[in-house]
Amino acid sequence: MSNPFATPAMAEGYARARPPLHARIVERAAAILALRPPLEAALDLGCGSGLSTRPLLRLARRVVAFDPAHAMSVTAGAIASPARTLTARAEALPFRSGSFDLITAAGSLNYTEPAAVFRQAARILSPVGCFVAYDFSQGRASTAAPALAVWFESFLSRYPMPPGEALHLDPASIAGLARGFTVLASELFQMPLRMDATSYSAYLMTETNVAAAIRGGASESEIRRWLSDSLAPVFGGAELEVVFPGYVICLRAA
Ligand SMILES: C[S@@+](CC[C@H](N)C(=O)[O-])C[C@H]1O[C@@H](n2cnc3c(N)ncnc32)[C@H](O)[C@@H]1O
Repeated sequence: MSNPFATPAMAEGYARARPPLHARIVERAAAILALRPPLEAALDLGCGSGLSTRPLLRLARRVVAFDPAHAMSVTAGAIASPARTLTARAEALPFRSGSFDLITAAGSLNYTEPAAVFRQAARILSPVGCFVAYDFSQGRASTAAPALAVWFESFLSRYPMPPGEALHLDPASIAGLARGFTVLASELFQMPLRMDATSYSAYLMTETNVAAAIRGGASESEIRRWLSDSLAPVFGGAELEVVFPGYVICLRAA
C-alpha cells in the first residue's frame, strides 16, 4: 500500500491544521479503561505529526511514537516533545517484549497490515497493557448548517477519494482482526468542533483526496482558492459546529 502521508507538506499540514480531537478521545479512552496515570510507558503507532502523541504525555512517564513517513516522525519529535520519536512501520517494531502499558493507533491501523500489527502489539504490551485504536472520518456536516453536507458532496465530486489507500475499519472489523485480544469496550461517537471557513479549508487541504489531486497535477493554490470561494457562503463569516464521526475501541491481550 502506498503511503499518502510521506511528504513534508503533509507533515506540516497535519501539524498545523488537523482537527484537534485527539486529546478528547484519549481522555475518553482513559476514562473507559479507568487508567491511573502515570503509566510507565505508552506508544503511539503511526503518530503522524504527533497530534495523537501529545495527549499521551499526560498519561505516561515515557512516551514513544513512530511513523514510517520520516517527515512525520521528525515533525512529531517537535510537536510532542519530550516523546521519543522514530521512523518505523507497525508490522516490525524494534521494542522489547512487554515494554508498553498502552499502545494507541489513531487513524493509522487502516494503513497497516492489522494482523501483523496485533502480533507485534501482543508481544510488546505488558501483561496488563491495553491497545486503543480510534479514528474519525471527515467532518462533512454541521447540525446548524445543512448547506455544509451539500457542499461536501460537491467537494468530493471535484476531488474524489483515491481508491484503495486504506482499509475500512470499525470496531467490529478490528475485533475480528485482533487475534489473541479481547475487546474491553468500544464506542461510536459524533464529536463537534467549532471551525471557521479558514480552519476548515486548512483541514481539508490535509485530506487524502486533496493530496491525491495534487499528486495528479492539480494546482495547490487553485484548490485553496476554490475552497475559500465556495465555503464563504456556507460559513457566512461565522463559526460552525462541524461534526466528526468516529470510533474508539479498547482491547487487551487475552
Ligand atoms: C491518518 S494519519 C494519522 C496520524 C496521527 N496518528 C494522527 O492522528 O494525526 C495515518 C498515519 O499512519 C501512518 N502509517 C502508514 N503506514 C503505516 C504502517 N505500516 N505502520 C505505522 N503507521 C503507518 C502514516 O504515515 C500516517 O502518518
